[in-house]
Amino acid sequence: MFKRFKSKKGPGYYFVITWVSNIATSESSIPFAEAGDSGAWITRVDGKVFGILTGGDPRKGTTFFCRISDIFDDIKDITGAVEVRIAPAPVSIVFSFCKLPSPMSSVIVFGPTGNVASVVAQTAQKHGATVFLAMRDTEKPISGLSTEQEQEGGFKRISADLTNPESVAAAAKISGAKRAFTYLAHGTPDSMRATLTALKSAGIEFVVFLSSFTITSDPRDVAPDEIIPYLHAQVEINLDEIFGPENYVALRPGGFATNLLRFKKGINDGEVRVFAPHFAFDYITPGDMGRVGGTILVQGPRNGQRKVYLYGPKIIPQGEAMLTIGKLLGKEVKVTAISGEEALEQYTRIGIPKPLGDYMVRKSGTPSNELTDRAFYDIGVENVQLYTGKPSMEFEEWVRENSELFNV
Ligand SMILES: NC(=O)c1ccc[n+]([C@@H]2O[C@H](COP(=O)([O-])OP(=O)(O)OC[C@H]3O[C@@H](n4cnc5c(N)ncnc54)[C@H](OP(=O)(O)O)[C@@H]3O)[C@@H](O)[C@H]2O)c1
Repeated sequence: MFKRFKSKKGPGYYFVITWVSNIATSESSIPFAEAGDSGAWITRVDGKVFGILTGGDPRKGTTFFCRISDIFDDIKDITGAVEVRIAPAPVSIVFSFCKLPSPMSSVIVFGPTGNVASVVAQTAQKHGATVFLAMRDTEKPISGLSTEQEQEGGFKRISADLTNPESVAAAAKISGAKRAFTYLAHGTPDSMRATLTALKSAGIEFVVFLSSFTITSDPRDVAPDEIIPYLHAQVEINLDEIFGPENYVALRPGGFATNLLRFKKGINDGEVRVFAPHFAFDYITPGDMGRVGGTILVQGPRNGQRKVYLYGPKIIPQGEAMLTIGKLLGKEVKVTAISGEEALEQYTRIGIPKPLGDYMVRKSGTPSNELTDRAFYDIGVENVQLYTGKPSMEFEEWVRENSELFNV
């Protein structure tokens, strides 16, 4: 409960507005503030300064503080300043703390038309970086980033194909970036080794790579027939060897909410035909992954993390997820379980290579494996909050916000 006071103290001195708060604490908990704390900054969990502690009454358990916005207003009134803000930590401190290479002003994001990378790019720009958008087709629109926003945000498009190391080196050199975000590019014979080597030789010092939660142990221990974790693990090993374990971060997200878009026709037609409807995913959203990725690209990882698991807040069987989508879109939906053969046909029809389809069918047909026993699940959910300041997005909220994606 807050109560507001306002006072004036002498000519020319406009005393800032003060707030009084009752802080709820349990009997056993430590007090919010103690004698001697006046002048301390009160910060939110995400590190943003909320106000400055001015005093308190221990008998009543109340604390007095000035909101930082009121303090800023007061500084403006007294000094005539038009803008007041807290200076960021000196770059040298931030970077030595994060053990990252030299400060940067530019970053390069490969595949910015992608669901995750488009948010990575926009987040990096919000964090102050000049963002180079490295694309196979520089004319392609980027979802969530209008032409006007692109111009206002100082984004720069540049041509590059991740399967072509020369084009990647040229793009990185032109950008002058020291940091890059990249996807796993399918179709390189060497698990992106030449591409990553080209990035390094072009001046990139730090990479954020979109890997996969299916890697649950040392990447070198992943067997080749575990095709999805294996493909991502080979890129992580190459990053280890080319950049060094301290100079890249592997994002290891869970099952994407966007995977459900494959079923939008069935949802609209009233019948979804799916293999293993009981098989469950966490449905992490591209927004959460992208915001974490863009933050790490600019600010580096926290808590010494180098493998950053990311998950949605609830594990939901896929059949149930489809019924939920139907309900939220106001459609009657029936879920029909299909055979592994029919599922493989579905995968082939939407262009998923047969070995990947085989892997998905094999994994979702077994009751227990790395897809159901998610590695570091709680940490992965908390990581979204850690890097974005907001909890991992609920599946229902994502469907509501993106209902138009399910239009056919
Ligand atoms: N689905 C899951 O549940 C899951 C789980 C864990 C990890 N992952 C990882 O996440 C990835 C998908 O992420 P997403 O949904 O954000 O992808 P997406 O929306 O399909 O976007 C992929 C992006 O990669 C770009 N790209 C592809 N090949 C390229 C190349 N040779 N050179 C340059 N750019 C290239 C595409 O560019 P164009 O516009 O030119 O096509 C596109 O911008 C998967 O491939 C996997 O590695 C997925």
